Amino acid sequence: MKTWRIAGLVAVPFVLAALAIGIFLFAQQGGLAPYRLPVDDGRVVAGDAATLRRGEYLARIGDCAACHTARGGAAYAGGRGFATGRGVIYSSNLTPDREHGIGAWSIAEFAHAMRHGVSRRGPLYPVFPYEYFATLADADIDAIYAYLRSLPASANVPPPNRLDFPANLRPALVLWRMLHYRPAPAAATDDNRGRYLVDGLGHCAMCHSEREPGGALASGGHLAGGRIPGSGWYAPPLDAKQLQRYPVEQLAAYLRSGTSDHGAAYGPMAEVVYRSLQALREDDAIAIARYLKSIPARRAREAAFTLLPEPQRQPEVAGDGAEIYRHACADCHGNDGEGKSGRYPALRDAVAAIAPDPINAVRMVLYGGFAVTTAGNPAPYSMPPFVQQLSSAQIAAVTNYVRENFGAQRSRLTAADIEAMHGIVLD
Ligand code: HEC
Ligand code: HEC
Ligand code: HEC
Repeated sequence: MKTWRIAGLVAVPFVLAALAIGIFLFAQQGGLAPYRLPVDDGRVVAGDAATLRRGEYLARIGDCAACHTARGGAAYAGGRGFATGRGVIYSSNLTPDREHGIGAWSIAEFAHAMRHGVSRRGPLYPVFPYEYFATLADADIDAIYAYLRSLPASANVPPPNRLDFPANLRPALVLWRMLHYRPAPAAATDDNRGRYLVDGLGHCAMCHSEREPGGALASGGHLAGGRIPGSGWYAPPLDAKQLQRYPVEQLAAYLRSGTSDHGAAYGPMAEVVYRSLQALREDDAIAIARYLKSIPARRAREAAFTLLPEPQRQPEVAGDGAEIYRHACADCHGNDGEGKSGRYPALRDAVAAIAPDPINAVRMVLYGGFAVTTAGNPAPYSMPPFVQQLSSAQIAAVTNYVRENFGAQRSRLTAADIEAMHGIVLD
């Protein structure tokens, strides 16, 4: 009895401390306010032609259709699946269907979902980039809402999410938000159009940031570059140092065309250019380029990127990378990695060559890629896969050659690293 009483007394401060931390974290993620759905104040959003056009443009730049349209499905009717570390999450139906879409939603409810990530369904999974959309101006949210309400209604019901316990419980998102989510400051003023588009609607930081294993932003990780969670791709930092090799106009042109003198957009970035950024107005593209080139470089982190953990790597690499490059690659990419202007991208200074993480380069050589068709690159060429033509040792050797010669990266990939790539989820 006595020992229990003592144990109880000892536990009291711990319980109180845990409670205090819990209350603090709950307050940090906005307290109760985000979970209270707004009452409909009866406000009506104008659906005139100019507003609809603006809404369509903004929805395009926010990439809403890309995420909210399933392959072969009706536009904006939801059902595209997103692989996360804990299973698959499906996007929702945003068409004006009253039952399965947002047809019965007031503008207040829509704005609340965009700003706080909470809807009638409860807290929303952060695959929906509400953390970024939170900074959107009222007028822009209104225009997107008006545009979505002008679409043909679809009664599509997206498949139920397939998530592991406890991620399958929506209320558990409250805990996630306590740990990882901090509400953005109220709607940003539009004094820096570039920043407004990059940090808000464009949600560039969703891919281009350094993250902790749980998916939370690392400290100082905003736009600092990193492996995209749930995907086998690396997105480079977006800052003045990384982008010094592009003059502003060239960077703006890259965003709209997907090509430049420093490589081509491929993988997830190719999709972003194709679905979204090619629609950028020129002044907006210039604003984004100016802003990106004004961001000071973050602290340099060690390049702790390898494909395989150290003990599993064999030290030496078979094959002569330079020789393989001359035979298999130089026809398209040029002897000095200079590319063939307008057709085949340069490898000198290309992201895959200079990135601390070798994963993009290895993937491109293994599986090849299709550059995107845009107005600025109307007849793109593609890169063949080498997974059948070259051995793993040869792929390691030629990738090391490319990264050492055209990217100044110390690259020590081995055949085992290349084989480990086959185990990585390819998305
Ligand atoms: C990277 C993919 C992605 C992008 C980009 C995206 N969404 Fe979503 N969105 C999702 C997913 C996935 C969900 C479902 C989240 C859930 O079930 O918790 C969702 C949910 C929503 C919801 C809540 C719907 C409901 O029924 O609760 C709204 C509203 C929404 N998105 C609007 C938009 C708008 C508007 C845009 C463009 C400005 C947009 N989304 C861009 C992936 C995305
Ligand atoms: C879905 C993930 C994703 C999103 C969202 C995304 N990017 Fe990217 N981006 C990538 C990946 C991966 C690469 C590397 C592959 C490549 O170069 O094409 C990349 C490459 C780039 C590059 C080339 C950098 C260099 O050093 O050459 C620029 C510039 C860029 N992105 C800008 C943006 C901007 C601006 C946005 C937001 C409007 C954005 N990206 C949104 C994934 C993404
Ligand atoms: C038939 C022409 C062709 C051949 C041969 C070829 N490539 Fe490519 N390569 C391309 C094209 C086109 C792209 C752009 C693909 C895209 O945007 O998806 C590309 C992209 C790349 C990239 C990504 C560049 C970046 O922007 O970061 C790398 C790395 C690469 N190739 C390496 C190689 C290597 C190594 C070889 C030889 C083993 C090779 N390529 C052979 C046409 C070719």
